[in-house]
Amino acid sequence: MVDSQIIISNLLKSYSSRAEELTVLRGISFEVARGEVICLLGASGSGKTTTLNLLAGIDKPTAGKIYYDGKDINEWTTDQLFEYRLKKIGFIFQEFYLLEHLNALENVMVPIILRGESEEIAQDIALQLLNQVGLGGKALNLPQELSSGEKQRVCVARAIVNNPSVLIADEPTGTLDSKTGDSIMSLLLRLAKKNKMTMIYTSHDPYFTKMASRIFVLQKGVIVEHDSEDFADIGYDKSEFEFLFKGENNE
Ligand SMILES: Nc1ncnc2c1ncn2[C@@H]1O[C@H](COP(=O)(O)OP(=O)(O)O)[C@@H](O)[C@H]1O
Ligand SMILES: [Mg+2]
Repeated sequence: MVDSQIIISNLLKSYSSRAEELTVLRGISFEVARGEVICLLGASGSGKTTTLNLLAGIDKPTAGKIYYDGKDINEWTTDQLFEYRLKKIGFIFQEFYLLEHLNALENVMVPIILRGESEEIAQDIALQLLNQVGLGGKALNLPQELSSGEKQRVCVARAIVNNPSVLIADEPTGTLDSKTGDSIMSLLLRLAKKNKMTMIYTSHDPYFTKMASRIFVLQKGVIVEHDSEDFADIGYDKSEFEFLFKGENNE
């Protein structure tokens, strides 16, 4: 692929425990071009979170390469990896990982403070972002005072607050009912498009493949071939996400 932003080449990941070695990824390879929307579809335990963690430099592969803009991220120092995670990657975790003692606004401020901005600036930017995700009115709520859908919106705001190039969302709809799930996906896709971010998300539900430009199906740690026809007739209405395919930018 010409001008791949991300190249993942033959990734292996094993965990060893006292008794046995568990191989979780068995040779994952794919490339992603700037601006693509990629869905990693797979059942629970197929290796989706592991793949995303490796891509984001949160974890290291047992073997294989990950290139970001042509650079092998496994050769980076701890500081370079920190910068990469802080500025290039926006990560929405499957388990949210909001800081429970901080309110929504403060949670979103964290990455801005980490990049060296003052508290005043961080507060302004964070509030703007919370407004964009429709949660300005709950800026002072603690995570425990928010619904799952609202927590997910805080995570979206926190993920994009430093203008990352790649937005990674690990089962962003996993804990949500289908209506709330649709509205989160729609929000993510609009933001990705508006901010020209590449987006890589995971799901275990074929329903949520409908908004992807490409789908990789993960099965027991390998990407299995699939025909795009597999998902052509899953009975869902693409019109809701038409803005993706039209190239309009009306937000
Ligand atoms: N830190 C770990 N130690 C041992 N096994 C792990 C660890 N993390 C994940 N696994 C195992 O790796 C497999 C894939 O996990 P994961 O990537 O979380 O899958 P998915 O996100 O697709 O549900 C699972 O069998 C899981 O139990
Ligand atoms: Mg997972």
